[in-house]
Amino acid sequence: MITKISVHGLGKLGASMAAGFASRGFQVIGVDINPNAVTCLNEGRAPVQETGLEDLISANREKIRATLDPEEAVADSEISFVIVPTPSDDRGAFTLQYARHAFKSLGQALRRKNSYHVVVMTSTVLPGATRYGLLPILEEESGKKCGRDFGFCYNPEFIALGSVIRDFLNPDFYLLGQYDERSGDALESVHQRVSLNQASVKRMSLENAELAKISVNSFVTMKISFANMLANFCQKIPGGDVDVVSDALGMDKRIGRRYLTGGFGFGGPCFPRDNIALDFMGESLGVDTRFLRANDEYNRCLALSYLKNFRSYIPPNGTVAVLGLAYKPDSHVVEESPGIYLCRALANAGFRVIGHDPLAGEGARQALGSHALVVDSLDQALKDVDVVLVCTPDNVYRRLEAKNFSSKTRKPVVIDFWRILAKLEGADQLRYIPVGKKPWDENSSNLFQSLWEK
Ligand SMILES: NC(=O)c1ccc[n+]([C@@H]2O[C@H](COP(=O)([O-])OP(=O)(O)OC[C@H]3O[C@@H](n4cnc5c(N)ncnc54)[C@H](O)[C@@H]3O)[C@@H](O)[C@H]2O)c1
Repeated sequence: MITKISVHGLGKLGASMAAGFASRGFQVIGVDINPNAVTCLNEGRAPVQETGLEDLISANREKIRATLDPEEAVADSEISFVIVPTPSDDRGAFTLQYARHAFKSLGQALRRKNSYHVVVMTSTVLPGATRYGLLPILEEESGKKCGRDFGFCYNPEFIALGSVIRDFLNPDFYLLGQYDERSGDALESVHQRVSLNQASVKRMSLENAELAKISVNSFVTMKISFANMLANFCQKIPGGDVDVVSDALGMDKRIGRRYLTGGFGFGGPCFPRDNIALDFMGESLGVDTRFLRANDEYNRCLALSYLKNFRSYIPPNGTVAVLGLAYKPDSHVVEESPGIYLCRALANAGFRVIGHDPLAGEGARQALGSHALVVDSLDQALKDVDVVLVCTPDNVYRRLEAKNFSSKTRKPVVIDFWRILAKLEGADQLRYIPVGKKPWDENSSNLFQSLWEK
């Protein structure tokens, strides 16, 4: 039975996995090229910001240690998980540059190890990358044969930042790409001990698992874009209500309700790039993936098309407050964030932009530079602005009341992409516009009627 695990790469995913394995009774040794990450773990601190991580590490201190030396980690474990960055390259594919470096060290460590060891690639990669890009490095550096002398699997995680530990311990399922049965058996035995929810394990070839991983994210982004398109439809239809329509769609078992709430685009470090990478794969293999491209373009154009829709509410040289600059609530990550794109579009159109986010202020300040004044106080963000755009359904924004919107000059217009402030409807101090909802008024129904007149 496997009792000792090494985790290579102690970043946003790897550090949480190391703590998660330890919390389920494994002895864990972490490895990173960054001395700070190693020191943090050895001192019982979290090397990255993630919900519950610091507590889990400190509660399991006697089961976790870290080193800069991959050989030491391989020697002192039976299975190694590799979770190093695989950033996008200029083709839209994922570069193996960091993974190659990690695999080289792992291969050298395997050369000096006499017992069977399983290497597991967890970082997101494209189909073919492990068998053709990484395994040869392990075999060459170790002088050993995969499937005979050591095992290999591809085992990506489906986690969301902010709930990495919960997602890691309670997955919907485990996606397990195996080089051979023995490697798959070894990894499955680890998952059986890790899972708090007895998640089932789907075992398949390396390439099928690589395709499945990236397809999950890409498919989810299509649902998100579809819901955003529905919101735009409902914005035009008299009495339209995107939540009513989405609830109905969600009742269909083929569709489901999750990720079907009309809102404001997808972003973050995974969704946009996975979509582009799958498109790259299609282009490379001669598979028609034009709807992936269309989805990406649709998502990237949202900021500009909303600006077009709502521009008439902003007076020339007017001031706009953008609430929610992280790519999702409760996050400090601003990478590919729709809120950031909206700030830039507004600034480029000549408006004064004030940004606010409960956690992402610092990152947003760096990302936006002179495009927006990012403030820490919500009161300050809302003071004397012409238009307020609510871009994330953050709890801090859900709690806003009419009295929080003050303007000496005019009634501010509050445009709510997530419809979280319905209580503002009809307030004297402001005009409330929920995106994805259209009141039943005479003008819009006349316009609609004209479509169907003979
Ligand atoms: N963060 C997410 O939400 C998420 C979700 C699913 C999948 N993934 C995938 O997981 C992988 C890692 O993502 P992340 O967000 O944890 O990255 P990250 O940048 O937060 O962390 C990567 C860590 O790997 C370390 N590292 C780099 N080269 C190394 C080497 N040779 N040996 C040991 N350590 C090394 C870095 O110093 C860093 O600490 C990526 O492929 C990503 O696509 C991430």
